[in-house]
Amino acid sequence: SAFVALVPAAGSGSRMGGTTPKQYLDLLGKPVIWHTLRALAAVSRLQAIHVVLSAEDEWWASYDWSLFDGRLVVHRCGGATRAESVANALPHLGAAGTDWILVHDAARACLRGEQVDTLIDALRDDEVGGLLAAPVADTMKRAQADGRVCETVPRDGLWQAQTPQMFRLELLQRALAAHSAVTDEAGAVEALGLLPRLVAADATNFKITYPQDLALAAQILRAREA
Ligand code: C5P
Repeated sequence: SAFVALVPAAGSGSRMGGTTPKQYLDLLGKPVIWHTLRALAAVSRLQAIHVVLSAEDEWWASYDWSLFDGRLVVHRCGGATRAESVANALPHLGAAGTDWILVHDAARACLRGEQVDTLIDALRDDEVGGLLAAPVADTMKRAQADGRVCETVPRDGLWQAQTPQMFRLELLQRALAAHSAVTDEAGAVEALGLLPRLVAADATNFKITYPQDLALAAQILRAREA
């Protein structure tokens, strides 16, 4: 089989505050997405790494990507939502007999290449595909609009969805065409009535979302280099 990575990086990072999208914030002297791409580049089975930027992106061109020579393919077709960004890029991925797409958030910079290998090994013969995920550790509450708890949601069986999310190209295309109001690819596949498989990963593969997340990511990456 052929495997390619697709990295949606067309978000504006509004929850971060500031004007620099989070994928370009500084993490140990490099933009966040540089670390993300380095992790994917370490996975030899990924034939190519496609990056989806917004058409207005002014940041990408100011960095040096030569480390990834030949493996990166940049598409400037980002949409208004993550699902749209992914859907816009998929038609450009079919050429080289690609069967599996691994969609990975630009903002998950602490991904380890071994986790991607684990995911591929677990799913390469799967009917549906699936995603990395971590069991929920906290007790989960549902709140009303006024901030008062109305329910404790039993935590067993609850997982936090991560990425990569690995699906066959045709299935992903069909799922996102039919169900675009989703926050991840698995959601669109589930909406077709299919059951994606969860592959256990660790919590260090978190999504950089808030300003304090950068310090944590730096700590995780530095500890690995040591
Ligand atoms: O905003 P959120 O954290 O859910 O974004 C997840 C990923 O999707 C990020 O890598 C972000 O850049 C990307 N994204 C995108 N196009 C959008 C919104 C988000 O590619 N319109």
